[in-house]
Amino acid sequence: MISPISSQLLSWYQRNQRRLPWRGHPDPYAVWVSEIMLQQTRVETVLGYFSRWMERFPSLADLAQADLQDVLAAWEGLGYYSRARSLHRAARMVMNDYQGELPQTVEALIKLPGVGRYTAAAVASLAFHQDEAALDGNIRRVLARIFNVDIPARSPEGEKRLWGLAAEHLPPGQAGDYNQAWMDLGALICTPRQPACGLCPLAEHCQARLLGVQEQRPVLPIRQVVPHYTVTAAVIARHGRVLIARRPENGLLGGLWEFPGGKAHDGESLSACLKREICEELGAEISVGEPFGIYRHAFTHFKITLHAFQCALVEGEPQPLAASDLNWVKPADLDQYPMGKVDRQISLRLQGKASTRRSKQPPAAQLSIPVE
Ligand code: ADE
Repeated sequence: MISPISSQLLSWYQRNQRRLPWRGHPDPYAVWVSEIMLQQTRVETVLGYFSRWMERFPSLADLAQADLQDVLAAWEGLGYYSRARSLHRAARMVMNDYQGELPQTVEALIKLPGVGRYTAAAVASLAFHQDEAALDGNIRRVLARIFNVDIPARSPEGEKRLWGLAAEHLPPGQAGDYNQAWMDLGALICTPRQPACGLCPLAEHCQARLLGVQEQRPVLPIRQVVPHYTVTAAVIARHGRVLIARRPENGLLGGLWEFPGGKAHDGESLSACLKREICEELGAEISVGEPFGIYRHAFTHFKITLHAFQCALVEGEPQPLAASDLNWVKPADLDQYPMGKVDRQISLRLQGKASTRRSKQPPAAQLSIPVE
């Protein structure tokens, strides 16, 4: 039995679904890659990355054989780099434990690195036609409105209610379309702000709309204040090369390359911070010279303002004390090293390619890069 809500939802989806390259893709690997990329990232952003990825790593076996550096380079700019590391690790597990074939059940999929309840259900339903309901941000919002879920959606009770509602309306044999129909309704009609209720195929069923509270659903947690950190980074040059360090593989931006430096302590000057960090991280003493730009970036749970400086080595040969590797690199070769957003901006600036349109910084040509 298909509920009237599901039946109207599915017929709307037949007419209005978005044409996306992973939809109906014959290879479950492609569906899995797309779902990992789509975690916390918009469809429009993922499109280009997905097609480049499939060219670079056309099969799960190709991904498993690849070097982590190349995997991180293909991911550069998508953020949340633990997703790329987990995807790579999971591909190797699938080769070893499942003869290269992705497992088909939620129970097995969820054991793979980077695969949570949502991703397991999405892959099982989209790639393997299993009757599994999925709950992502779009689906959560639409269900909270249609069924007027008036408790915090992310609370354990809210989650239980929403997963239950998604499962309750699932039409057997059509889970893939059903899950994606909710997603598309959320993306195209039932948007976070100013939902287009006049165009909604489920408007007559929508309890939140009946009460005029659709924009108050889902009930969100009270926003926490996001901490802000001041960070420094050193551009140390020698013989026409600059020093970059590779972050340890686990943790934030793990395995990516950066200009060495770190977080300032309370009351510490930028230059004292940088000297201390370089001493702790590299076992070397530096002098701190001209500023090399101020860069801002927001991570999920905090924001940073990073102050870069041109620096020179005064004593000691840098050692990878806190980094997993160090390298002296010609500015022209920096593209070969995967980096986070801020360090890529510094690299582009060193290469004379940085856009100064949106920053207050002088063009790179005015900055002298110490050669010795
Ligand atoms: N977000 C996550 N998975 C998706 C999919 N298959 N289609 C559209 N948006 C999505």
